[in-house]
Amino acid sequence: MNKPVRVLLVGSGGRMGRAIVEAANGDAAVEIVAACDIGDPIEPAILGSDVVIDFSHSTAIGDICAAVSRHKRALVVGTTGHSPEQRAEIERCASAVAVVLASNFSIGVNALFWLTRKAGEMLGPDFDLEIVEMHHRLKKDAPSGTALTLSQILQKQRKLTPTHGREGQVGERKADEIGIHSIRGGDVVGDHTVIFAGPGERLELTHRATSRQTFAAGALRAARWVVGQAPGLYSMEDVLGLTDRK
Ligand SMILES: NC(=O)c1ccc[n+]([C@@H]2O[C@H](COP(=O)([O-])OP(=O)(O)OC[C@H]3O[C@@H](n4cnc5c(N)ncnc54)[C@H](O)[C@@H]3O)[C@@H](O)[C@H]2O)c1
Repeated sequence: MNKPVRVLLVGSGGRMGRAIVEAANGDAAVEIVAACDIGDPIEPAILGSDVVIDFSHSTAIGDICAAVSRHKRALVVGTTGHSPEQRAEIERCASAVAVVLASNFSIGVNALFWLTRKAGEMLGPDFDLEIVEMHHRLKKDAPSGTALTLSQILQKQRKLTPTHGREGQVGERKADEIGIHSIRGGDVVGDHTVIFAGPGERLELTHRATSRQTFAAGALRAARWVVGQAPGLYSMEDVLGLTDRK
């Protein structure tokens, strides 16, 4: 049997960190060899690992990128809510090492991404687009990274201006709006609905995650896949073999 892929887990004390540890306990192909949370140095923990998995906070990305670039380790970024500058940092890092960046590691949500692309192509500009997401009360960023990915998929098809919620005398809806709405409460793991509202009919595509294990299993799959890949920025669709890369 091949040696297990050695993982340094960043954000190990959080909800996703704990789900990753649990998933890794049942996966002989990966081993968590080191774990960091807020305040812990990434070095020297990174030295004994093949890949870093990050489920912490967007502000951790600078130190993580510096360490993986210096030591040439692969990186899986599950954290969401990065600023444009932090996103640019991830892209710079991906010129030195292989990086998987995914707003959502679940197979079902990656199917939702594909279905959203197809429905957008089929229905065209007569359909108004709205995205609704709901997460637990402790989530720190809004809208969710997954809602932003869904919006970006549709923005590749036609010119759309994101509108985050509505309040007051906002006037009639403009044809080029894409409404994005974030609901927070309870212990909801993650719900996403894409609404295509057309004349006389409405299509809604909904995904509901009921357990963080689906994200954890996907992130471990990404970690196994990314070790040994050439430097570059990869998506979960690359991991799942859904994209053609020249
Ligand atoms: N990509 C996906 O599939 C997916 C799924 C679920 C959550 N997420 C994202 O993962 C991130 C974590 O989610 P969560 O629900 O586990 O959050 P959480 O708040 O429960 O856990 C975050 C952990 O990171 C630690 N942390 C914060 N700043 C840190 C730093 N600078 N260095 C090291 N550790 C630090 C915290 O102490 C905490 O233990 C969020 O950005 C969330 O949106 C992504």
